[in-house]
Amino acid sequence: MNAPDRYAVIGHPVAHSKSPQIHAAFAGQTGQNLAYERLLAPLDGFVTVMRGFVAQGGKGLSVTVPFKLEAHGLADMLTARARAAGAVNALHIVDGRIVGDNTDGAGLVRDIEHGAGVALEGKKVLMLGAGGAARGAVLPLLQAGTASLTIANRTAAKAAGLAAGFAAHGNILARDFHALQGGFDVVINATSASMDDQLPPVRPDVFASGALAYDMMYGREPTVFMRFAAEHGADTRDGLGMLVEQAAEAFLLWRAVRPDTAPVYAALRAGDQ
Ligand code: ATR
Repeated sequence: MNAPDRYAVIGHPVAHSKSPQIHAAFAGQTGQNLAYERLLAPLDGFVTVMRGFVAQGGKGLSVTVPFKLEAHGLADMLTARARAAGAVNALHIVDGRIVGDNTDGAGLVRDIEHGAGVALEGKKVLMLGAGGAARGAVLPLLQAGTASLTIANRTAAKAAGLAAGFAAHGNILARDFHALQGGFDVVINATSASMDDQLPPVRPDVFASGALAYDMMYGREPTVFMRFAAEHGADTRDGLGMLVEQAAEAFLLWRAVRPDTAPVYAALRAGDQ
């Protein structure tokens, strides 16, 4: 057999990344001959480590915290969704050129639709947060046919800026937390509040009957936001499925084969228990 094509996840830290496990499972399942490793780059060493890997024949990289903006800056070409996101989480080396993509938002949309089983077409969606994670999700959510996408953020001006930037792409609105008129079908927590065990300042009536409350964070325990949403009747889902789906989108970019995410998600979830 030929030597495997090489891929890696690059970040700082990177030791706990689940990406090697996910991509090894995808490769096994689809019969793709590839190797996937971890690259720890010093905080000021992203470009050096990344270019070194490419010089050794590396075919693609997953980019994680804190290098997604730097990766956006150095790519030779950007996909439309990477340009819209302002960040890159997947690099693909094509004929020696570095193509930057962003699969996070597409991963979120796929997990909501296929993982949670909620079709976004015609839905009223509320997104909490206006940082990098929120920005990456906006275009894919609008392209999924949402009836409206409302952005609420602690710093209101950032929500307004985000909404204004995407006004040409769909029905996107910015609202203050206290001015939210209830009844959203899908409420997405794209803030980093869950990392500090904090709840964004949402009222319980933001959840329409049967709403899905989605937290981009994941872990062993439900987040504060998920517990709050469940107490007020919403279905909840954490971001583990988004993690698997964004990886699947990167795998598709690199190998032109879409892996089956369901067994990989189930294995990761079981490993979390
Ligand atoms: P990320 O890349 O994870 O999006 P970020 O760009 O630093 O990280 O953005 C963090 C987001 O979480 C912001 O929307 C932030 O709100 P501000 O713009 O007002 O800072 C939001 N956030 C963080 N902690 C929060 C909290 N405790 N309550 C509400 N929003 C919070």
